[in-house]
Amino acid sequence: MNSQAKRDANANLDHVMNGTVTMATVVNNKGDDVINGHSIDDVISSDDVAEELMPVFAGLTSPRKYVPHWYLYDTRGSELYEKLVHKSPTYKLWKHEYSVLKEHGDEIASKISSPAVLVELGSGASSKTRLVIEAMLKRHGSFTFIPVDIAKEFIEDCGRQLEKDYPGLTVEPYGGLYMDGVRHIAARPEAKMLLFLGSSFSNIPLVEQLKMMVDIRTRLGEQDRLVLGLDMNTDREALSRAYDDQWSPWLRDNFICRLNQDFNGDMKKEKFEYTFDFVENPVDGDTPSYIQLSLRSVGNQQVHFEKLSLDLDFQDGERIYLAEGMNYSCKWNLKQLRRLAERSGFTVEAHWTNNENTYCIVCFAPADTIASSA
Ligand SMILES: C[S@@+](CC[C@H](N)C(=O)[O-])C[C@H]1O[C@@H](n2cnc3c(N)ncnc32)[C@H](O)[C@@H]1O
Repeated sequence: MNSQAKRDANANLDHVMNGTVTMATVVNNKGDDVINGHSIDDVISSDDVAEELMPVFAGLTSPRKYVPHWYLYDTRGSELYEKLVHKSPTYKLWKHEYSVLKEHGDEIASKISSPAVLVELGSGASSKTRLVIEAMLKRHGSFTFIPVDIAKEFIEDCGRQLEKDYPGLTVEPYGGLYMDGVRHIAARPEAKMLLFLGSSFSNIPLVEQLKMMVDIRTRLGEQDRLVLGLDMNTDREALSRAYDDQWSPWLRDNFICRLNQDFNGDMKKEKFEYTFDFVENPVDGDTPSYIQLSLRSVGNQQVHFEKLSLDLDFQDGERIYLAEGMNYSCKWNLKQLRRLAERSGFTVEAHWTNNENTYCIVCFAPADTIASSA
C-alpha cells in the first residue's frame, strides 16, 4: 500500500472503530481476529482488495465520506464521460476547449522546439488532443506522445487508434497517477510539452494544486511548457444546466456499480441522489470558485462491503463526495491564473480563450524563481 494511503486508512481506523462505521467480522488472511490490532494491513487482506484501491477505503471511512476523483474513471466510467461531454447540449467545456485548440493549435505547438515530446496528463480518449497532435506533426515532424492516465486499458486502446490514424506518431501510454507520469517523463532529453486539458487540473484538491505546480516546475527545464485547459464560467444558470442530472448514469450508477463490484457491496443506486453545488469565491482572491459533486443518501441506511469487512451508516441527506478535496472543476479568472503561475515558479507566456471568454487555455513557461513556495 502506498504510504499516504496507509496513513489515511490507519488514521480513519479510529473513526471506523468508534463512530458511524463499524467493522463487521474482521479476519486476516491467516484466519486471525485482528480487530484489536488496528493496523490497516492486518484488517483488510491484500488477497481481497488491490493495494491501489486502499485510498478508496480511506475515503469511505473518513468522517467526511468521499472517493478519490480518479475512482470514477474505470474503463466504463471513461466511456460514459466521453459520451456525455460530446453529446450534452448544456455541458460545453469539451466544445469550448475544442474550439480554442482548433483555432490556436499551431501557436500552442510553436511553444516548444524540436525534437519534442508531448505528454498529456489525464488524457482519457485524447479526442481534443488530436488537434495538437496534428499541429505538432506539421511543425515538428515525427514525435512521441505519452498519454498519462489512471484508466490504463482505456488509454492503451486509444493510443493504438492514434498510432493507426497518424503515421509518424509513436504513442507510449503510461497508466498511473499524474505525478507518477511526470516523474516517468522527467529525464527525457526532448523538449517537453505537458498538456493538462479538460479542466482536469481543477479537480485536484485546492490545497494540493500549488504543491503539484511546484512539483511539476522542479521537473521541467527552460525549454519545456505546461499547457492547462481551464473553465472560466461562473454563470450560475449555465452551471445549473451543465451539472444537472445528466451526469447520474456516470457519477451515480456506474460509480455505485464499480464500488459494489470492487468491494462486494450492496449499495443501491435508487437510495442515493446525484447532487451538485456551486461554491462562489471572491473574484479578487487567489481561490477560484468551484463545483462540488456528491451523492446524497435518501433516508437512513446501512451499506455493507464484504471485502472491506465494513458496514457504512448513512444518515438521511448525508453525502458521499466524488472528489478527495472540497472542489471539483474550479472556475478561474486570469488574475488567479497569473497568481498561481507566479507562486509556483512559472510565468503565463500566452493564453487563448473562446469567443464567449468562458474557457481558457494557458501556456505556463518556467520562470527563474519561485515567488512563494507551496
Ligand atoms: C475530466 S477527464 C478529462 C479527459 C480528457 N483529457 C479530456 O479533456 O476530455 C479526466 C481524466 O483524468 C484521469 N484522471 C483523473 N484523476 C487522475 C489522477 N489522479 N491521475 C491520473 N489520471 C487521472 C481520468 O481517468 C480521466 O481520463
